[in-house]
Amino acid sequence: VQYIFNEDISALKNYVGQHAIFIIDNNVWQHHSLMFNGEKVILFDANEANKKQSTINFLIEQLIALEADRTSFLVGIGGGVCTDMVGYVASIYMRGLKFGFVPTTILAMVDAAIGGKNGIDVGLYKNMVGTINQPQFIFYHYNLLQSLSEVEFINGFAEIIKHAAIKDKELFKLLQQHSIADFRNNTALLHEVVYKNVQIKNQVVTTDELEQHERKLLNFGHTIGHAIENLYQLPHGHAISIGMCMEAHISEEINNFYSEEKLALTQLLQQYGLPTHLTIDKEKVWDILLKDKKRAQENMAMVLLRSIGNATVETIPLVQLKDLFNTLF
Ligand SMILES: NC(=O)c1ccc[n+]([C@@H]2O[C@H](COP(=O)([O-])OP(=O)(O)OC[C@H]3O[C@@H](n4cnc5c(N)ncnc54)[C@H](O)[C@@H]3O)[C@@H](O)[C@H]2O)c1
Repeated sequence: VQYIFNEDISALKNYVGQHAIFIIDNNVWQHHSLMFNGEKVILFDANEANKKQSTINFLIEQLIALEADRTSFLVGIGGGVCTDMVGYVASIYMRGLKFGFVPTTILAMVDAAIGGKNGIDVGLYKNMVGTINQPQFIFYHYNLLQSLSEVEFINGFAEIIKHAAIKDKELFKLLQQHSIADFRNNTALLHEVVYKNVQIKNQVVTTDELEQHERKLLNFGHTIGHAIENLYQLPHGHAISIGMCMEAHISEEINNFYSEEKLALTQLLQQYGLPTHLTIDKEKVWDILLKDKKRAQENMAMVLLRSIGNATVETIPLVQLKDLFNTLF
């Protein structure tokens, strides 16, 4: 995968060959259509509710209408929903076309576009169907973020703080010195942090594409986060933020994670506009947790912090986890 930074959008054409088709999130098109003047374009509503097979069928029909063939190159331009879907459709259309991404959300830039996982939801089951297939390139163009809402900007920072917590104490310290507004107003600073995060995620997924160990660390905050996300209809970043706080508490109880560092993590999340507390129905959340993919019989694998920048995967007996869970907040 080639990571492309600091190039004008017009340079995209140098990476896509003769037969490029741009598949663009409608919201991105609305604000930035001029950037893609004269290209072959397919537009669609890239939201989570549309991240499903019928939308893939629509994209396939559009590709057929545009006479896409094995020499075509697909470019997904949008947030994580768009890149997940374009990666998937590119993997199955005519048994696979080359593709690349222009991520347009913070989350897609630092997370979703990287690593080759793609796919769609099936009913309530997120990312149930998909492939692992790497794009040719990921093209970073920060001007696209000017139209991104504050909520989505903050959502992306939940994953950035997660990366710092599991892998990079220096990044954590850098984040402590800034705020969302700093990153919105200072592209050089934003680039510094996005670039560090690309390196972190890329390093993790290249060492462990198939999620044997290292890649599991990316699930910090996501075990409890996913359980509360749907139940309480939370934005993903909010759910992960609360999940990280709860899992930091469990880390303190059984992984010797310092309480001062737990406090620092909570404060950093608050500094970036993220919630750190939620009153939950413990029985309901516990029932959802039991269905987690990371459960194996009577144990749950959970990512815990040992210190800021250092995470481990621990196997916790369900009986013990249940007790810990009951001591949360
Ligand atoms: N493949 C992976 O490894 C991976 C990792 C993490 C998340 N994901 C997936 O990513 C998805 C979430 O991605 P997301 O947070 O980017 O959400 P998203 O793609 O839904 O984008 C969020 C919202 O912002 C809009 N938008 C996007 N870019 C914009 C821009 N530049 N200006 C204005 N509006 C813009 C979108 O239309 C949407 O309404 C989830 O489906 C998740 O499963 C995948």
